[in-house]
Amino acid sequence: IPKYRIPEMIDIPDRQWPSKSVTKSPIWCSVDMRDGNQALPDPMDPDQKLEYFKLLCDIGFKHIEIGFPSASADEFNFFRTLIEGDLIPDDVFIMGLTQSRPHLIEKTMEAFKGCKRGIVHAYIAPSDLHMKQVFGMERKQLIETAVASTKQIRELADQMPESDIRYEFSPEEFTDTDIDFSVEVCEAVFETWGKATPEKPLIMNLPATVERRPPNHYADMVELFCRKFSQRDRILVSLHAHNDQGMGVASIELGLMAGADRVEGTLFGHGERTGNVDLVTCINNLYSRGIETGIDFSDLGHVAETVERLTGMPIYYRQPYAGTYAFTAFSGSHQDAINKGVHKLTEAPDMFGMGWKVPYMHIDPADLGRKFERLIRINSQSGKGGIAWVLEQDFGIGIPKAMQPELSKYVQGYSEQVGREISADEVHEVFQNEFVAPE
Ligand code: KIV
Ligand code: ZN
Repeated sequence: IPKYRIPEMIDIPDRQWPSKSVTKSPIWCSVDMRDGNQALPDPMDPDQKLEYFKLLCDIGFKHIEIGFPSASADEFNFFRTLIEGDLIPDDVFIMGLTQSRPHLIEKTMEAFKGCKRGIVHAYIAPSDLHMKQVFGMERKQLIETAVASTKQIRELADQMPESDIRYEFSPEEFTDTDIDFSVEVCEAVFETWGKATPEKPLIMNLPATVERRPPNHYADMVELFCRKFSQRDRILVSLHAHNDQGMGVASIELGLMAGADRVEGTLFGHGERTGNVDLVTCINNLYSRGIETGIDFSDLGHVAETVERLTGMPIYYRQPYAGTYAFTAFSGSHQDAINKGVHKLTEAPDMFGMGWKVPYMHIDPADLGRKFERLIRINSQSGKGGIAWVLEQDFGIGIPKAMQPELSKYVQGYSEQVGREISADEVHEVFQNEFVAPE
């Protein structure tokens, strides 16, 4: 038996719908404080979780999984702190995860008491691998367990008429399941919940718990699920991708094109192993194509600093959008082209009839609260255009074209001499030393 194989083909009929572009924003759900937090070397304490929760609310998340209330006293008490302290904005649903086991469900429902809006999230894995290796269960037994859990949650939710309690069900390891069996389990759960409407839909969350498949396979499965599910208009189809093969973002984009309505993930991709999908990238990708996302990243530096501090984990230098180098051009030709592009755009903002269009930069860093002044780093590879631009941007000094090669020679010489990138201040100093007569 070969150790690795190409996954089997999934037969899907010709597609008419949906279109192949994402045209509107999904509902975004942050699982930072559950999936993200459980995978931190030092999980957040209650104060840190509170600060993280406020950050998520401030930037616009409306679905926030705040923990796993049956897992520990701290997790349970965090629910109580938010609810009893009236710390949850009225339009925010807090979400809590539970395994499909009666005593854990009981504890979970207790944690939600008195909340205005809550999503109880139950999961069980209908994959043969899990059923055989982990649960020792047959398919029939798995359906019975999912149904019994749903019934228990429904009954306990009915005892909380003052709260708007919604239900989310995850067939864990969805991408490793037989799609027909997953649909059968979800249909049984849907029937048992009984009260889903288009206005108050049940959330069917389809996790790529482990990224075993390429993004197009995930999307095919999502599309098939949408087609096969009997009451599509009464459920929100939700995506939950992990990033084991580094394709989490692509999985989400294709999953949305396949018809999903909602996306779960974390800021900067915290989560088990190689993480959950990075929502900062997913959201800004859609933003960069003109889609209103409902999430405010206009001060991404603040978001990044807060997440780094609370998780204790640094953001990678080349992380899309937030990395130190995300908008840095090192090479002279890139610097020169960006310089020209930005100037042309300033002179004639819609000269191409397509809004922002600058070489080597697909989004305006200013939209994320990042500044042009910091975009161009000076090192021995920097070109004359970039160096002149730094002086103009940072110090208001226009360098005549004829003078730029000479200046560039001095600046590069200085950078070589010190053996590192140099700052805009140092460029200014070189300029002063070489070209400005002392008074
Ligand atoms: O990755 C996963 O499958 C999960 C579930 C609990 C939704 O985190
Ligand atoms: Zn997960």
